[in-house]
Amino acid sequence: MDKLISLCKRRGFIFPGSEIYGGLANSWDYGPLGVELKNNIKQEWWKRFVHQRTDMVGMDTALIMNTKVWEASGHLQNFSDPLVECKKCHRRFRADHLLAEESFGNAIIISADPDKQKDLLIEHKIKCEDCGALDWDRPKQFNLMFKTFIGPVESEDNAVYLRPETAQGMFVNFKNILDTSRKRLPFGIAQIGKAFRNEITPGNFIFRTREFEQMEIEYFIPAPKKDKDWEKYFDEWREEMKKWLNDLGISAKKLHYENIPDGERAHYSKRTIDIEYDFPFGKKELYGLAYRTDFDLKNHMEKSGQDLRYLDPETNEKFLPHVIEPTWGVGRSVLAAMLEAYHEEDLPSSAEATEDKTDMRVVLKFPKWLAPVKVAILPLSKKENLSSKAKEVYQDLIKDFVCEYDETQSIGKRYRRQDEIGTPYCVTVDFESLEDKAVTVRDRDTMKQDRVKISELKEYLHKNLTFNF
Ligand code: GAP
Repeated sequence: MDKLISLCKRRGFIFPGSEIYGGLANSWDYGPLGVELKNNIKQEWWKRFVHQRTDMVGMDTALIMNTKVWEASGHLQNFSDPLVECKKCHRRFRADHLLAEESFGNAIIISADPDKQKDLLIEHKIKCEDCGALDWDRPKQFNLMFKTFIGPVESEDNAVYLRPETAQGMFVNFKNILDTSRKRLPFGIAQIGKAFRNEITPGNFIFRTREFEQMEIEYFIPAPKKDKDWEKYFDEWREEMKKWLNDLGISAKKLHYENIPDGERAHYSKRTIDIEYDFPFGKKELYGLAYRTDFDLKNHMEKSGQDLRYLDPETNEKFLPHVIEPTWGVGRSVLAAMLEAYHEEDLPSSAEATEDKTDMRVVLKFPKWLAPVKVAILPLSKKENLSSKAKEVYQDLIKDFVCEYDETQSIGKRYRRQDEIGTPYCVTVDFESLEDKAVTVRDRDTMKQDRVKISELKEYLHKNLTFNF
């Protein structure tokens, strides 16, 4: 993690937030390469799940919603984590996280009851990570929603909340979507956007932050006639998520599909699978898949007084659809993809030697579609005629690809720089190029070089950069 965090800062992927003022704990800003990487993830997701499916539509809903939304959704009452305070040093922790960390190999059954949680902490001698005391207060439920006020007066009447999930924007628009898109069940609504949670223990770089982005789908299905009718859709979405993870370059052996038992699931869920990944700091949730039943539509219908039922055009039956919800964290996708891509490789002594005789390269082996920069154009020397030929190639390629132009330092060092940010192709313009109208194209992973005619370069790159999902 330390190496990755340092690379992110050094090369402009991710910076600490508000850094010139000493930072703001656990806030992060995406730099020029980070934003390209993140956008590639979001764009591919949107293309795959909205544009390329006939059963999906997209939305972009407000961050601040009517407070009644959060009453109906149960977030005001239930969206909380157990906060436990060390009576000696007054540091606060999530009781369930302390127990979960201890439970490896110990199999502690984590209870939702605060008194039981306290007993378990004492029984298993789980001490304060800060001061080492074993003196816990009774855990209290702490609501994770960020509260603010509409207008100049800070009163309870004006209190509003930043959304803790993008999902509710889609539920409250269900009727609008039915009326305008003429979709028939089953169909889904997708949204990418920010969510906010006042996490008790944020941390591990961009893994757990208080402001983060989600890519969520609410997939509406017919109300199950038989108990397990929803399972087929649930299984289909689990397969879609598996395929996505494979295409993101995540190795299957680091992934775990964990069924969340009764009592530990979110208040709205009848079944949840957490897709967990072996992060360097432990096995943690990457994505989630939940069967939300008709919980949300039913509560919004009751609270708003609006009829949110679906009219089946074939049977003329009116009913509330049920919902399967696959959900992806954007930041966690970035983190997992970067961890998988990070490689340190020994180079054969003759290969691409730099002046400092570095025989190791750091290379981000992103799947090519994901790489923030696709092509680097490197004139062999800064000599006038080479630079101008290389700039000509660059001007043409930027119409199709995200490119970088770099003419400083030795070619070996420039290759290393591009390896470190995961650029799949380096195009070198050399003196021969002026004669044979061809360039050398170097592959990031194999370091093999091809001589390609400039007139055929775009076609060559398109062929090699297009990923057949
Ligand atoms: N609508 C369902 C929902 O919000 P969730 O499991 O609470 O479910 C979905 O969140 C995903 O959002 C998680 O799997 C994770 O990828 C991401 N996520 C949740 N909390 C996060 C946080 N504090 N920081 C970064 N990502 C987070």
